[in-house]
Amino acid sequence: MLSILVLHGPNLNLLGKREPGIYGKATLSDIDRLLEQEAVSLKVEVVTRQSNHEGVLVDAIHAAAGHHQGLLINAGAYTHTSIALRDAISAVQIPTVEVHLSNIYTREPFRHHSLIAPIAIGQISGFGADSYGLGLRALVNHLRSRSDAQS
Ligand code: DQA
Repeated sequence: MLSILVLHGPNLNLLGKREPGIYGKATLSDIDRLLEQEAVSLKVEVVTRQSNHEGVLVDAIHAAAGHHQGLLINAGAYTHTSIALRDAISAVQIPTVEVHLSNIYTREPFRHHSLIAPIAIGQISGFGADSYGLGLRALVNHLRSRSDAQS
C-alpha cells in the first residue's frame, strides 16, 4: 500500500484559533481526520506530523526515504524562506505536493514566492482544508499513473 507522509509546518498547530478569517475554523486534528478519511477512500496510508522547528521537519523528510512514497507538505512560513527544506526534499527525491490553506498569491508580496514549488510536482493553494484533500488525491493519482507507466 502506498504510504504518504503529511508534514505541517510552523504555527499550523494553532489552526482553528489562528486568524480564522484567513485560515478557516478547522483545527489541525480536523484536517488530519479529513486526510485519514480520504486515505481510506484512496486505499493509501497517511502518516501526519506537525512541527514548529525547521530542523525537525528536515529530519522527518530524511527519515521518510524508504518508508513513504509521497510527501504532502504545508511548510507554513518556511515555504517562503527555507532552502534547507527544499534541499531535503531534493535530496530524498520523494514526489512532493505543496499545499496552502490560503491563496498565497492574493496575500502579502513576501508570500508570493515559494522555494518549494520549483521542486514539487505541483501546488494547491487557496481552498482551505480542502487543499489538503485535493493535494492528497493529486499526489496519489500522480504516483499511480507513474507506476502504471513503469509496468
Ligand atoms: C500557509 C501560508 C503561509 O504564507 C503562512 O506563513 C502559513 C500558512 C497557508 O496554509 O495558507 O503559515 O502555508
